[in-house]
Amino acid sequence: MNKFFSVVDVDNLSEIVKEALELKANPNANESLGKHKTLGLVFLNPSLRTRLSTQKAAMNLGMNVMVMNMDKDGWALETQDGVVMNGTTVEHIREAAAVMGEYCDILGLRSFPSLKDKEADYNEDLFNKFIKFCGVPVVSLESATRHPLQSLTDLITITEHKNVAKPKVVLAWAPHVKALPQAVPNSFSEWMCKAQEQGLVEFTIAHPEGYDLNEDFTQGAAITHDLKEALQGADFVYVKNWSSYKEYGKVYPVEGSWMMDNEKLAITNDAKVMHCLPVRRDLELSSEILDGPNSLVIKEASNRVWAAQVVLKRMLETIK
Ligand code: CP
Repeated sequence: MNKFFSVVDVDNLSEIVKEALELKANPNANESLGKHKTLGLVFLNPSLRTRLSTQKAAMNLGMNVMVMNMDKDGWALETQDGVVMNGTTVEHIREAAAVMGEYCDILGLRSFPSLKDKEADYNEDLFNKFIKFCGVPVVSLESATRHPLQSLTDLITITEHKNVAKPKVVLAWAPHVKALPQAVPNSFSEWMCKAQEQGLVEFTIAHPEGYDLNEDFTQGAAITHDLKEALQGADFVYVKNWSSYKEYGKVYPVEGSWMMDNEKLAITNDAKVMHCLPVRRDLELSSEILDGPNSLVIKEASNRVWAAQVVLKRMLETIK
């Protein structure tokens, strides 16, 4: 594996989940694989889980890790070609990415969307330039349109906690105070659609009108505006807010109750409730669920290590 950007970078979902769970059972089995290899983690946006779990995974593989908070500590980046850099940007991504590639054997990048320029965001302009100019394998730590380490984690967590061979998984839109990217729900949806194709889950998306995701990410999913209908028989409910794709980045007023709470949980098949975190308590998801027996959010965050470790392991095996 020399790139981990989307579900397309993984052929067999069951195999990668199995390998991740083997690493979970024996975290230090490959502790010399990454010896004398360096992972660079580049953040253009904040992070708790992605930063720490990926560092932990790399350390389990014996790698050295360097973290660059580019948004705070780096030079202001120019990402456009053909501009005279006589404004506020100081360093072009061509040089910045190439230099980081000289110091590192594998690079990770987190780069959120603008939520203003849909075309640039959905073309993954910045991410693709970073891959092109750095010259080493790149793992996405969340891009403008996807969060694949989170989605792989979510599939691992569903596999671990399912009680039936093919659980019903519902992606449920939830309220928020801010306009959030579509990266997590896009990514979760494309991974669940592929898992559905491979006979692993049955997948439904519930959201209010106006919040349709880009159809490229939802092929094969059942989609409804009726949350209660979607929750019937659900084994897993994945709660997440996102802003509008169509009227890009817009937040509409929503009728009815979309926060996941115990009343809605009662409609499900005693569903396990998931969220990628950070979560706004009693806005997106009730405290009674977060603090109750059906919440998987901490176990899910814990599994971020094994998702990162299996991806880094496969990359190290490629570059060895
Ligand atoms: N879920 C997730 O990616 O968390 P962080 O933004 O804290 O990394």
